[in-house]
Amino acid sequence: MDRENFASKFGALVVIAGSAVGLGNVWRFPYVMGNNGGAAFILLYIFFVVVICVPIMMSEFVIGRKSRVNAFRSMYKLVPQKRWKAAGLLYIFIPTAVLSYYSVIGGWTMQYMFKSLTFSFGSGVTADGLAKSFESFSTSPYLPVLLMVIFLIVNFGVVMLGVQKGLEKFSKVMMPALFVLVTLIAVRSLTLPGAEEGIRFLFKPDFSKVTGETLVAALGQAFFSLSMGSGVMMTYGSYLKQNDNLTRAAGLTAFFDLLFAIIAGCAVMPAVFAFNVGVSQGPGLVFQTLPLVFSQMPLGNIVAIVFFISLFLAAWTSSMSQFEVPVSYLVEEKHISRKTACMVVFLIALVFGTLCALSFGVLSGATVFGKTIFDALDALCANYLMPLGGLLAVIFVGWRLKKSVAISEITNDGSIKVPSWFLKSLLFIIRFVAPVAMVVVFLSQFIS
Ligand code: PHE
Repeated sequence: MDRENFASKFGALVVIAGSAVGLGNVWRFPYVMGNNGGAAFILLYIFFVVVICVPIMMSEFVIGRKSRVNAFRSMYKLVPQKRWKAAGLLYIFIPTAVLSYYSVIGGWTMQYMFKSLTFSFGSGVTADGLAKSFESFSTSPYLPVLLMVIFLIVNFGVVMLGVQKGLEKFSKVMMPALFVLVTLIAVRSLTLPGAEEGIRFLFKPDFSKVTGETLVAALGQAFFSLSMGSGVMMTYGSYLKQNDNLTRAAGLTAFFDLLFAIIAGCAVMPAVFAFNVGVSQGPGLVFQTLPLVFSQMPLGNIVAIVFFISLFLAAWTSSMSQFEVPVSYLVEEKHISRKTACMVVFLIALVFGTLCALSFGVLSGATVFGKTIFDALDALCANYLMPLGGLLAVIFVGWRLKKSVAISEITNDGSIKVPSWFLKSLLFIIRFVAPVAMVVVFLSQFIS
């Protein structure tokens, strides 16, 4: 079968970065950082992104582009041992599970987008009022579910169109606007009266607060934010062309993703302190904070509109990537049409997404390990399964795949001149540093 490719280098980069940059940066990063003490968490997160995640991303690209099949079969095709097939199932499960709860927040984003369109975020907005309206919206059994379904349908639409016409076209226009906007909002937030405490929270690390759980949370955030260990980068790797530069794609993706997260942190945290919102608000943090910043900006209502539209678009490019992985699996492995595959994924995400959406309201009493269904699924995926998926990918490339294969993928058969110290250190990280670091992080939570 003729497989699809990304049409252009720029397109490929935008789609890959589009998967990475999303709600993970703007919605998840600030509240997880808030729950985990601020600056020290950020430093750990940056460390994990640079040292562990970039090499893992490259490993996933290597596996994807070399095998040119869906994430389930990728590793098995290169090394035909049954266990790599079992591992492949993980890469289909994770993005489907993430899609389910991600769509809930996608729905929330749509709600706030609609609200902004009716000019609800101008002067006169109060922290109390926002908290109340967020509470009554997120606990309702109807609207969040409906919006989640609409969000899934919107994804269905793009993924059905396929790689070039769907994913690639859409991504090219979405990211730049969001970047400009978040930066603008960050500048306003950082200059609010009373912002100092927030700035200290962001930039003055207190390592005495770091526990095993902080480490796990920082690693989880790094994985989630880079769509790592989830099958996405393997699948996107399989759409890359032979002359795409894997190192560049991974480096730039990580760079933009980090930049977005830090700027989003600067947009949210100073305002959290300036308006006394409370750092540990959880998933609602961004939605209860940023409107306060808008209310303090000239043309705040307009800024709010453009912001929520672009946040919605960024969420969309990420959820598309989650949607694409199980779809490509179903099309290639079960030989069904793209449309039917989209339908199947849609229905699965619908069921789990509904449970997640309701876990803020009627199902808030149903807990797993003391967490709501939403929080439990998020923790399971981001903190455990995605790091596990990444661990398997580096073990595979470091210990199972022929070294020459990895090197020829990274250098495009020798046509990219890569200094040998770079290749050596990269392979060293892939073989030793990344796996050991991940195991240590895992164990650390049981020690503290
Ligand atoms: N990286 C995306 C974000 O930051 C989320 C994501 C997770 C996407 C897993 C794909 C797979 O929003």
